[in-house]
Order: sequence, then C-alpha cells, then structure tokens
Amino acid sequence: MRIGVIMGGISTEREISFKSGAEVMKYMHRDKYDQVIPIMIDDKKDVIERVKGIDFAFLALHGKFGEDGTIQGALETIGIPYSGCGVLSSAICMNKSLTKTIVKQYGLATPDWITFRSIDEIDYDALNRLGYPLFIKPNHGGSSVATFFIQNESEVKSAVHEVLKYDTEAIVEQYVNGEEITSFVLNGEVFPTLLIKANKGEFFNYESKYHEQGAKEEVVEYDEELQNKINEASKIMWRELYCKCYVRFDMIIARGVPYILEANTLPGLTSASLIPKSARARGMEYPELLDKIIEYSLV
Ligand code: DAL
Ligand code: MG
Repeated sequence: MRIGVIMGGISTEREISFKSGAEVMKYMHRDKYDQVIPIMIDDKKDVIERVKGIDFAFLALHGKFGEDGTIQGALETIGIPYSGCGVLSSAICMNKSLTKTIVKQYGLATPDWITFRSIDEIDYDALNRLGYPLFIKPNHGGSSVATFFIQNESEVKSAVHEVLKYDTEAIVEQYVNGEEITSFVLNGEVFPTLLIKANKGEFFNYESKYHEQGAKEEVVEYDEELQNKINEASKIMWRELYCKCYVRFDMIIARGVPYILEANTLPGLTSASLIPKSARARGMEYPELLDKIIEYSLV
C-alpha cells in the first residue's frame, strides 16, 4: 500500500498541519507499507492531481478544506480511501454551533452560545443574558486562532470584527469556569482522559497548545461517577456526530458536569498534541496509533 501523508492546506492551521505531517512521516512504520510519501498541499485546485498514484490518503490536515468534509468528498469521488471521519461528520464537527446544537439535543451540557455573521447582527441584550466574560471565536476555527476572551461589552465589536476576518461566522460562548479536559476516542473506544493545565492566567490558547513552555497535560482519572459521565458523553458524541476511526472531544468539567466545547475530527498529531499522549497512557505508542488509524479508516 502506498500511503500519501497530506499536509499543509489553506486553513489558518497550515503550520500546525506541517508539524502533524512531519511527526507522522517520522514515526510511521516503514516496514508495513510499500511507500510513505509526503504530499504538501498549497492550493486545493491541484489536490486530485497530487494524490494520483497513492492507495491511501493519511490526512495530516486541520481546519478548512482539511477537516471540514471537502477534501473527504473529493477523495470519495475519486475512490481514494482516507484517514478519519467521513464527509458528514467532518462537516458537522467543523461547525461548533451545529455540534453544540446536536449534543444539546442528546441531553449533554454545553456552554450557552450565540452566533453572528456580521457586525450588524450583534445583539447586546442576548450577550448580557449570556453574561460576561465571554469567548468569541471563529465558528469553523481551530487551534484557538482568533479566539478572544472578553470582559465586557466595550470589547465585543472589535473582537467580532477580527473573527469575521477569518470566518463567515463568529461564535460567542459563555465562560464556564472549570477544568479543561479532552477525551480521545479511537474506533468507538474511549481512551484515558487528559487534564489540561494551562499556565496561570491563560486559557488553552495557540501559544500554550504548541510551545514547550505552554500548557501541560496529564492523564486524569476522576471518581467513578464523573469519569462515567465523561466516557458516556464521548460515546454519545461519537454516535450522534457520525464519527469514524478517531476523534477528540474537548470539554470543561464544572460542578461535576462535563460541558462539551467541540469535536475535532482531525486532531493534532504534533509532538505537543494531546491524542498521542492519551494513546500512550493506554500503552499504544505513536507508530502503533498511526497503524490503528489506517486500519480503522479502511473498515
Ligand atoms: N485543531 C487542532 C489541530 C487540534 O484539535 O488538535
Ligand atoms: Mg478544535
């Protein structure tokens, strides 16, 4: 099997994608596959040309045109199998508001939110009802690019304005004070929960996600009741968001309740990323994790 590791792309997470791609190239078992070829994408127009000759596309892409169902659709059309979730799941999970609507429908907690597609849509009364402080971020973003933590009304307009430079829609989300965790699911099996320890006074922002001195993560095992709630929430999301192969769910734990933040269908695979740590805690080293991703993508 000739594997193409697709990286780069056109999203705000292009640089992270190169880091994920480099890590995948470094660690993928060479003896199991005929060839492992890096494929750097600069423009989505030539993707179909570039993937010719490979038997499997390992997607080390993140964000727009990587994680949102579009490249998945292109690959489906030309019959090349690829890693991770399918078209529908990828498209739903890229949209934070839609993801939250679905999980709420299935009885899970999620911080209250509202979206704006233009500055004119800003509804200050609705924001007051959510209550400050608030997070404002791109509804289809990732890696905390253009994410603002705002304290009061005077900061809203410029934050929404900034977010709309990156996305067609801004999502404003209530701040839930609690512990940030992440839950990795591989082929329907929930892996050890990781607790994110951001530096004091910071949220888990871009710098703390990817810099050595950034946030630290550790495996956490909550008491049985709470751990069950986290694992159950992960299973519900896995099913109702139509996930396949692997996904990472981000949550805040407050007052013994997991509040769902989002689903990442192509979570980071960099050396600083979370899911390799969760897999390792279960005794699965990075090369084996990559093998499993390929295996479960092909079922
Ligand atoms: N969006 C980044 C890559 C992550 O979820 O890990
Ligand atoms: Mg994300």
